[in-house]
Amino acid sequence: MKRIALMTSGGDCPGLNACIRAVVRDASARTVEVLGVKGGLRGLRDGDYHLMGPRDVSGIIQQGGTILGTGRFPEFEEPAVRAECAARLRGAGAEGLVSVGGNGSMSGMAVFAKETGFPVVGVPKSIDNDIYGTDYSIGYDTALNTALEAIDRIRDTAASHERVFFVEVMGRASGFLALEAGLAGGAEEIIIPEEETRIEDVASRIVAGRQKGKTSSIVVVAEAEQPGRSFEMAAEFTRLSGLECRVCVLGYVQRGGRPTARDRILAQVLGAEALEALLSGVRCVMAGVMEGKVAFTPLFDVAERSRGLGATELELARRVARE
Ligand code: F6P
Repeated sequence: MKRIALMTSGGDCPGLNACIRAVVRDASARTVEVLGVKGGLRGLRDGDYHLMGPRDVSGIIQQGGTILGTGRFPEFEEPAVRAECAARLRGAGAEGLVSVGGNGSMSGMAVFAKETGFPVVGVPKSIDNDIYGTDYSIGYDTALNTALEAIDRIRDTAASHERVFFVEVMGRASGFLALEAGLAGGAEEIIIPEEETRIEDVASRIVAGRQKGKTSSIVVVAEAEQPGRSFEMAAEFTRLSGLECRVCVLGYVQRGGRPTARDRILAQVLGAEALEALLSGVRCVMAGVMEGKVAFTPLFDVAERSRGLGATELELARRVARE
């Protein structure tokens, strides 16, 4: 291959720029040209591409967001739009595509690659860490640390005022971010979509904690595709327990900011591995890390399967924080 395209699509997250930099520079070292696709899938359809050289990616490794721009593009579900994308790419001389995206992007790419025969290798990014085929997605570690820092700060106020706080984190349909932020932050309760939680039970456990001498509590709530749901939960909690309670929805602060060292390293490793795979003829897979090693998973498996939560972590969080 002499020329490939590189795209970021779906929601932004920290670490995308480190990945872009690695792909562009590693490709340059192999005398392969990189066409940067602007604005995600919409740019793919519109032919909004430009050649990127090593100097175009200077000074971005520490920046959140994506210099290529990104977005969600439901029109990609139409076969005619996918065919147009492939024709545009071929017309621009691209022989393969590195697609950095989340679950939606990986599913779209699986169908695109199969239908059009265009060579694609995916790279997983998501602050939700909900992508099958990788233990960690780019952006997750930074979002986790951002949520943790917020929980630590809120803990100061909770302790000073002897209050209960409901802290809502992102995660779409997954409780992974809530679970690990709660475990790391010593949350008394973690409410995730993977299991049913009754507010009555949360209230009675927190009241029992007070009787054991606990003076403040943090309840981490996963948004579970209903951002802001913790307001209603907190009101119900106060009604049942009589305890003063405040809510903090962390929201989009979890999506931005300087990527952590872990995310920068993961982004570069996966970007370079995806490029290597594409150049050596591997097709329609996603480059991820499983048990510390780089692993390639067919895009169709990524699309069809979902990753579970660590039951051990959840049990540990509960045993330790409630005692
Ligand atoms: O998938 C990442 C994520 O930030 C989710 O945690 C959240 O539910 C969603 O994206 C928000 O999406 P949008 O950018 O469309 O508001």
